[in-house]
Amino acid sequence: MTPPPDPAPSARPFRELMARWATGVAIVTAHDASGDAGLTVNALLSVSLTPPSLLISLSQDADTTPVIHRSGSFAVNFLAADQRALSERFALPSPPSEKFKDLAFHRERTGAALLDGTLGAAECKVVAWTPRYDHVLILGEVVHQEVGRDSPPLLFFRSGYSSTDGAGVLHLAPPKAPE
Ligand SMILES: Cc1cc2nc3c(=O)[nH]c(=O)nc-3n(C[C@H](O)[C@H](O)[C@H](O)COP(=O)(O)O)c2cc1C
Repeated sequence: MTPPPDPAPSARPFRELMARWATGVAIVTAHDASGDAGLTVNALLSVSLTPPSLLISLSQDADTTPVIHRSGSFAVNFLAADQRALSERFALPSPPSEKFKDLAFHRERTGAALLDGTLGAAECKVVAWTPRYDHVLILGEVVHQEVGRDSPPLLFFRSGYSSTDGAGVLHLAPPKAPE
């Protein structure tokens, strides 16, 4: 007998599954006539070396998404372990005036903010814009890149931040108690 098909996977178990996938954390920024925008991301991958290109997946609801659409460009800032507060700040639904308040950054090719003190940054021009579900997949070709501090990265795992101690030893976010 043919086994019954698996029920369609639902969002919550999928979130728990993906919480087992450790990632770095970055802040994506963009700039247009309306000003600066930015958000914390971990849905990010390197696509090719020739040309250097990367992909981000942004919520269609995020305020930063239309700024990238209008400007045709964005920057990715890779966070160091001691920049957790920045990650938390840019993950809030607060206006850019609060997100960028007292923040040190500079601009290069696209006008998007390149934050000081990161591990590095890449500025991209948008070469493909692919809406899927409630997100949009944005492929960017790198037009400018900078290598920054040589420090441990900020990591996201088990729906929480992991950190390193002074000796560079990784301390993973503790397991979550079952709900
Ligand atoms: C660790 C972490 C990773 C995140 N990754 C993403 C992501 O890849 N794509 C996304 O759209 N939102 C992501 N978010 C949520 C956004 O940062 C959040 O919704 C933010 O408030 C959007 O800001 P905006 O509306 O000003 O653009 C992430 C949040 C955290 C804490």
